[in-house]
Amino acid sequence: MIANERNLLKFEAAKNETESSVEETFNGFTDSKPRGNTAVSLDFTFNTFYLYGIPEHADALLLRDTEETPYRLYNLDVFEYEVHSPAALYGHVPFLLAHSVDFTTGLLWLNSAETWVDLESGTEKEKLPRKHTQWISESGLVDFFVFYGPKPKDVSYQYSRMTGTTCLPPRWALGYHQCRWNYNDVADVVSVLDNFDKHNLPVDVLWLDIEHTDQKKYFTWDPKKFEQPDIILQKLHQTHRKLVTIVDPHIKKDPDYQLHQALLEKDFYVKDKEGRPYEGHCWPGSSMWPDFINPDMRNFWANQFVFEKYPYSTNDLHIWNDMNEPSVFNGPETTMPKDNLHFGGFEHRDVHNIYGLQLHRATAEGLMRRSGYTERPFVLSRAFFAGSQRYGAVWTGDNAATWEHLAVSVPMLLSLNIAGLPFCGADVGGFFGDPSPELMVRWYQLGAFYPFFRAHSHVDTKRREPWLFEEPYLDRIRAALRHRYNILAYMYTLFHESHLNGTAIMRPLWYEFEDESLYTVEDAFMLGSALYVAPVLREHVTEMFITFPGEENWYHLITNEKRSPGTFLEHVDLSFIPVYQRGGTVLTIQKRSRRSSQIINNFYTLRVVLDSKGRSMGVLYTDDGSTFDFKAKSAYCLVRYSAFDQRLESRLGHFSASTFDNRIEEVIIIGVQKKVAKVLLHFEEDQLLSLSFKQNLQRETLIVKNPAVSVASEWILSWQLS
Ligand code: NOJ
Repeated sequence: MIANERNLLKFEAAKNETESSVEETFNGFTDSKPRGNTAVSLDFTFNTFYLYGIPEHADALLLRDTEETPYRLYNLDVFEYEVHSPAALYGHVPFLLAHSVDFTTGLLWLNSAETWVDLESGTEKEKLPRKHTQWISESGLVDFFVFYGPKPKDVSYQYSRMTGTTCLPPRWALGYHQCRWNYNDVADVVSVLDNFDKHNLPVDVLWLDIEHTDQKKYFTWDPKKFEQPDIILQKLHQTHRKLVTIVDPHIKKDPDYQLHQALLEKDFYVKDKEGRPYEGHCWPGSSMWPDFINPDMRNFWANQFVFEKYPYSTNDLHIWNDMNEPSVFNGPETTMPKDNLHFGGFEHRDVHNIYGLQLHRATAEGLMRRSGYTERPFVLSRAFFAGSQRYGAVWTGDNAATWEHLAVSVPMLLSLNIAGLPFCGADVGGFFGDPSPELMVRWYQLGAFYPFFRAHSHVDTKRREPWLFEEPYLDRIRAALRHRYNILAYMYTLFHESHLNGTAIMRPLWYEFEDESLYTVEDAFMLGSALYVAPVLREHVTEMFITFPGEENWYHLITNEKRSPGTFLEHVDLSFIPVYQRGGTVLTIQKRSRRSSQIINNFYTLRVVLDSKGRSMGVLYTDDGSTFDFKAKSAYCLVRYSAFDQRLESRLGHFSASTFDNRIEEVIIIGVQKKVAKVLLHFEEDQLLSLSFKQNLQRETLIVKNPAVSVASEWILSWQLS
């Protein structure tokens, strides 16, 4: 990477007030620019054609030459956003990845002001593959960091040392979330919950959008419709589920609203250019915005979540921070004026892109504080920046119920994953509009493999809870939900790995395989390094070409059908999307359907897929699923599985007795091509047990039922050929 090759290191410094009179008016809004015009810029050249990152844009994963319209990084609430556009959306990470066969390099442009990134391919004269980039920010410093790789996972690791890794979510947050704007009242919520049970559909979390509050005053409940929210919380608690309520940053300007009065008295609101609390419009009508840049304000905010302050809240209630770009209905580009003032004398233009992150941060702190730092928080945020991963999940905002939006969710989430924000998802079903039953099924089937899996819909759409669809659609949705719960232990293990190393969870194929032909693939992805997911992204598809990467065979997750590397015309019907397990991996799955992830009494199946040399490896991470004991008391369990020479070994990397220890009810070894005569279990000191088994030579599977071992123990299973 070469910096300043094109001499674009420029800065236009702030002027003092007397010199400057460069006021600018746009769309009826005037920016007074008290420091005059300011900007910083620099160019970077990379020796490759392949650049990725700088989310979030509803566009391809592979960044393209910008020609006239640069990628814009300025957190905005965009109404009905369009796909295939470099326009700004709700959150941004100024981090780019340059990738080639020889190297992967990361670049972080650490600037929270409005930023534009231009990309241009090198000319033919330059001979080598080259990409020129230019970064321009409206204020701040030239402050950048380069991560040398040399592989994608190294860059993720190095970048995460600087910006942090994703917090390990509570396990339930990886289950299925049911949301809608809005569930009407307590009775409605209770009936939704009952219907999940009635129809045998697993779910972990129900959500309440803005209408649950008293006139959009956050931390309150609508006195009629949600008079007794404790009924909801009790019911959720009894059925092992959680609630998420929305808490937005715009505070209703109402003299009778205690929170507003306290913020005014403490002088904690963002100021307008004259130094008065800034007033704008949002859901509650006239509103003001707490200054989350101020650490004292964040501390005050965190205190609002203590149980005594937030009526009816319990440890089962977690939070959704929306509209935190911040969205201001009557502001320039639906956000705050840039000449607003923050703590420390910063103008809003300087800190715009971290406003949302600081709210996310203060809320996560609040949830930890209320439990005395014992329980892990869950907070979803719409706006984000580099580092937001430390505070919780993010999602891609108000998408639409169209096939295009379904398809674009894949590159959008991949881009977030490689930019250090792996805990992300898109609204399943599409927020605006009414999805056809087929689109709904396909979205659930893909959503089951999103790191964050939530269905959500706009207030004007038709109700679309799964049971409102006829057969066979309901049944397909149920199967997709169960799929998610089947792989939850694997997903949780991936989150733990990401928590340690900053690794992406949903991964572009090039993140796992060194093969230039994969650099442009963005309609399929790897979930961790074991699962290959090829979603169906178009209507009425009955066949699709799938390219199986790498050198090892792949085995269908459900049918165990084998596919060799190369391109294959796969038949698909509505029952599931193609998902394959990679040769050489061990997957821990849980097949029995439970009503939620919190029913911990569940059994494991080990799916051991051998590679061409008869080897295989995998890891399982487990802990209590919700507290910080995994850190504070090392209360977790890490099991390593490895297969070689016709034996499968389970070894404990770390063992804590307080971890729930479930039984393995089945071991499936796939890729066994010869007839097996005997299966033996070796445990403790030289004890041997002969186990019964079934073999299907055509499918290359060897199935051992009830090996009578637990997941958190050491043993060896061997098979002898006849
Ligand atoms: C905008 C959010 O993106 C959407 O998910 C939510 O339902 C509405 N605000 C109402 O709160």
